[in-house]
Amino acid sequence: MRVDIISIFPEYFAPLDVSLIGKARERGILDVRLHQLRDWAHDVHRTVDDTPYGGGPGMVMKPGPWGEAIDAVLATGPAEPPRIIVPTPSGVPFTQRLAMEYAAEPWLLFTPARYEGIDSRVMAEYGARTRVDEVGIGDYVLAGGEVAVLVMVEAVGRLLPGVLGNARSAVDDSFAPGAMENLLEGPVYTKPPEWRGHEVPEVLLSGHHGKIARWRRDEALRRTAGNRLDLLAALDPASLDEHDRRLLKELGFPS
Ligand code: ADE
Repeated sequence: MRVDIISIFPEYFAPLDVSLIGKARERGILDVRLHQLRDWAHDVHRTVDDTPYGGGPGMVMKPGPWGEAIDAVLATGPAEPPRIIVPTPSGVPFTQRLAMEYAAEPWLLFTPARYEGIDSRVMAEYGARTRVDEVGIGDYVLAGGEVAVLVMVEAVGRLLPGVLGNARSAVDDSFAPGAMENLLEGPVYTKPPEWRGHEVPEVLLSGHHGKIARWRRDEALRRTAGNRLDLLAALDPASLDEHDRRLLKELGFPS
């Protein structure tokens, strides 16, 4: 997969050299190309922002440099343009489902903004030629979209074939589609079997795969009920068996 990132802080993306994503790049699975937006600003100060029309606080990123930068990136690739992802707290929520959708694309272009965001005509211009998604990574405001891009590239990159050592790890993720969809993963343990007086739950040492799967599902339901009432409410009742319903009732959530 090819990933282009246009930013006034390309140095922000140094973490993409490290660990899983760094290895994926070394192995040619992920081709990340960074671009300095200011290379397409032509005044002596290389200005990329200006005051907002209509007034208000902060500055807005000018359409000119973005348009030239995006055109230049598009000109270096195939005729089929990339999917463009504009990080913004006002966007649609970034979810595992969206990460999987992006992982199936051949080419992504991220346009992280600083200040109050990018002049909206940029999204209109490229939205007429390709898919442009305005995407938020959570209900909080960051100083810029760069960290949001790091989050998305990591979530997408680990789904690319050959990136994870164990392909099942992605299948079993919290939020991954399947039997455990919308259930949070429960607690995990490793050796030793006893640590500072805390024991590993007996069932995990039993070798009984059926019982272990049932225990994991119980713990996933408990954790989801404890931490994420929104996910619990969204569970498809048809996905719950008799045992699930009994457990939820015990936890105070009669279906
Ligand atoms: N830029 C600033 N805050 C953001 C957020 N929560 N998600 C995506 N981009 C952002």
